[in-house]
Amino acid sequence: SRLEMFVDDLPEMPKIRGYDLRTGGVPSTRTLTIGMFQTTWKFHRDLPPTAVFAYGLRREAATVPGPTIEALRGVETRVTWQNHLPSSHILPWDPTIPTAFPGPGGGVPTVVHLHGAIAAPASDGNAMAWFTAGYRFKGPNWSQETYSYPNAQEPGNLWYHDHAMGLTRVNLLSGLFGAYVVREPGLEQPLGLPSGDEFDRHLVVFDRSFRADGSIFMNNTGDNPSIHPQWQPEYFGDAVVVNGKAWPRLRVRRRRYRFRILNASNARFFRFFFSNGLEFHQVASDSLYLRRPVRVRKLLMGPSEIADVIVDFSVSPTDSAVLENDAPYPYPAGDPTDDTNGKVMKFSIEQRTAADPSCLPRQLVRYPTPSPHGAARRRYVVMYEYTASTGEPTRLLLNGKSYDEPATETPTVGTSELWEVINLTEDNHPLHVHLGLLAVLEQRRLSDPEALKACLARRSDAAACRAGQHARGPPTPVPPQERGWKNVFKVMPGHLTTLVVRFSPLRPSPVFYPFNVTAEPGYVYHCHILDHEDNVMMRPLRLLPP
Ligand code: C2O
Ligand code: CU
Repeated sequence: SRLEMFVDDLPEMPKIRGYDLRTGGVPSTRTLTIGMFQTTWKFHRDLPPTAVFAYGLRREAATVPGPTIEALRGVETRVTWQNHLPSSHILPWDPTIPTAFPGPGGGVPTVVHLHGAIAAPASDGNAMAWFTAGYRFKGPNWSQETYSYPNAQEPGNLWYHDHAMGLTRVNLLSGLFGAYVVREPGLEQPLGLPSGDEFDRHLVVFDRSFRADGSIFMNNTGDNPSIHPQWQPEYFGDAVVVNGKAWPRLRVRRRRYRFRILNASNARFFRFFFSNGLEFHQVASDSLYLRRPVRVRKLLMGPSEIADVIVDFSVSPTDSAVLENDAPYPYPAGDPTDDTNGKVMKFSIEQRTAADPSCLPRQLVRYPTPSPHGAARRRYVVMYEYTASTGEPTRLLLNGKSYDEPATETPTVGTSELWEVINLTEDNHPLHVHLGLLAVLEQRRLSDPEALKACLARRSDAAACRAGQHARGPPTPVPPQERGWKNVFKVMPGHLTTLVVRFSPLRPSPVFYPFNVTAEPGYVYHCHILDHEDNVMMRPLRLLPP
C-alpha cells in the first residue's frame, strides 16, 4: 500500500477496571456503562480520519479497538451496553443473508458477546438479542439491558465484540471489538511474568482497506450477485493494523515483554515471526494458561485466536525487529507468493541491556489433560458447501443446517463430549463454541473425502455416512501450544478433527455456573471467519439440565 510503514507509535487502549475497590481494598462488583458511538479514528499519520463505530465510556473516549476491560476472577463485572449509533450503517451490508433488520432507517442492530466468557444465556450476546439506538428496535431474543459477567472462570484473555445476526462482519469491520482480561493475582503473580502497563501489553491485530479519503473500503459486489448482491465469502484488507494504527512501531527495552496477541480480523490468518529470528515463548492461548511455556519461531493464528507470549528482547541480535506475517490468504489455499500484508509492526530495541525482574517459569498452570474418557457422547459437525434439494443457492453450512433450524447440539451441563469435526472445504475454519472449553485430541486426514461427500449429498447425516471411517489417513501433528484448553480451534481442510468439548469447570468451583445455563435463548457455536458466520456457519447450542 501507499502508506509509509512504521511512522505511528503503537497506541495503548484505555483500560477500564471491571471491579470496584471498597475502602480496605476489597474488590466488589462494578457496573459499567459502555456505549457504541459513531466517531472518527486516525488509523495512520497520512490517512484522513476514518468514520468508525467504536466502544467507549463516552463518545470522546471511544477507540478502535475499544477499551481494555480488566476483571478479577470471582468478582462480577456488569456492563450496560448502549447503542448510540446513527440510523444507518457506515458499511454496505447484505439484506439477502439472514440478517437482523429493524426496517429502513431503523438504526444499526448490535449485541455484545464476551468471547470466552462463561456467562448466562441472557448475557451471552445471542445473535437475535440485538437492539438499535435507545432500544427502539429489538431482536426476538432480547431480554435485558445489563449483562452480567461472573468471571468465575480461569484467568486469561478474552475479547468482546459485536454478534448481531448477519451483521457481525460489518460491525467488527466498523470497529466494534476490544480486549478483556480476567486476572487472578494469587495464581498469576507467583509466575513472575513481565507485568505492569509497560511490559504487559495487548497487540490487537487486524487487516483493513482504506480509501484515499480515509474511509474503510469493503468490496460490496458479491461474488454471486444474483444470489447475494453484496456478501463476499471473506474480507481481506491490504493494511495491517495493530491497536488501531497501520504498521505501528514500538520502542522496547532489552528485556522480556508480555504480548497478548489477538487476531481480530474477519477472515485473515496470520503466521507471525520476527525478521531477526527472535522467538516467542507462548504462555497462554485463548482464555487459558498453558501447562508450560512453548518456544516457537512462527505463530499461526486464525481469526479470534489469542496467543499470550513472552518475547525476550535482551537476546536480540539486532537493534530493530519487524514482526512479519507469511500466512497465505485465504488460508491455507491462497497464493503463497503474494506477500501483501507481509509486515505487521516494528520494534526498535534499545542498545543497553535493561534490568529485568521478570522471569519465564518452567511450569505455568496445571489443568486436567484433555482425554476422550468419560465423554458423554460423540457428535459430528460437518463443514461443507451444501446444496439444498429446494434449489436454494449453495451455502457453506454446519451439518447442512441453517441457523434457524432447531438445535441439534444439546449437551448436558457438567459433561464432556467428543466432537468429530469434518472439514470438506478448502479453507481452514476456526471453530468457536460458546460457554464450552475445547481441546484437540487428534486431527486425521480424510482418506476418501469424495465418497463422504457423495454419501452426505444423499443422506446429509455424518453418523449415518459413518464419517469416522473416512478418516483413515495419517494424523497431522498439532503444535504443542494448541494442545491445551481453548475456546477456538483451527479446523484443517480435508481432515477429521476430534475435539473434547467440556461443559464443566477445570478446577473444582462451587460457583462455576452461578446462573441457569439451560435458560433461553441458549448459546451458539460457529466458524469465526465472520463472513462465514454471517451466512451462516452458525448453529444454536442448547444446554440440558443434568
Ligand atoms: Cu467471538 Cu460467537 O464469537
Ligand atoms: Cu469458516
